[in-house]
Amino acid sequence: MIRRFTWDIVYHETLDSTNSFLYNLLNTDSDLKEGYVLRTGFQTTGRGQIGNTWESTGDRNLLASILLKPDWPVEEQFVISKIICLALVELLNEMNLEDVRIKWPNDIYVGDKKIAGVLIQNVLKGKQIKASIVGVGLNINQEVFYSDAPNPTSLSIELKKKYNVNEILLRLLDKLDLFYNKLLSQQKSEIDNLYKFLLFRRNVNSKFVNSNGETFQGIIKEVTKSGQLVVKRDSYLQQFAFREIKYIL
Ligand code: BTN
Repeated sequence: MIRRFTWDIVYHETLDSTNSFLYNLLNTDSDLKEGYVLRTGFQTTGRGQIGNTWESTGDRNLLASILLKPDWPVEEQFVISKIICLALVELLNEMNLEDVRIKWPNDIYVGDKKIAGVLIQNVLKGKQIKASIVGVGLNINQEVFYSDAPNPTSLSIELKKKYNVNEILLRLLDKLDLFYNKLLSQQKSEIDNLYKFLLFRRNVNSKFVNSNGETFQGIIKEVTKSGQLVVKRDSYLQQFAFREIKYIL
């Protein structure tokens, strides 16, 4: 395996958000090396997608942001989401969780419950990705959730065991290494196929609501290169961007 860098893990007991902190760090030091990983035990303002917050009680879960510098065209930015999601699924499968799927675009589900979320912030230079901050929240040892986030679960709820968070981070980084290298060595179709195969509710008739509030039935088929969800409705295919569609679970 070609290694472009080694992981450099830095731990802080508390941060506002590992994504925000790493973003600011990168602003003051743009030479920060690829492979820098910021982990914290607790976030005061943990961020989720679409302005949501991310719940995690003291030091129980994996809260980390990983710095990648892939130097890819911006149209291909969704592959970063693919490789981290695949790394998470592979890790969770290896830990004997069953029915682990990627709920497009950035959630990891075990059955109908969410175990992890990913928040990616890209720093662009012209049409290239200069840096990518890959934020990962993986529920590990938390057993009670207080926010109104739908159906949360954790490794310890599912497998009735406690885990060492740092060991799990190291295992996740190993998996990420694997998929990142596949990308860099032109094995992109393998990534695309695996991601498609692991899509939550793929080929299953499901209910959705669109941005106009209309509900409809459709079948998830795949995700385009630019990261749009392709849904079959009656006899035609329609593509949706992230904010244009929601699943009704
Ligand atoms: C989501 O599912 O809405 C995405 C959640 C992402 C949470 C992680 S926790 C570490 C990193 N720092 C943040 O503030 N958010 C991400």
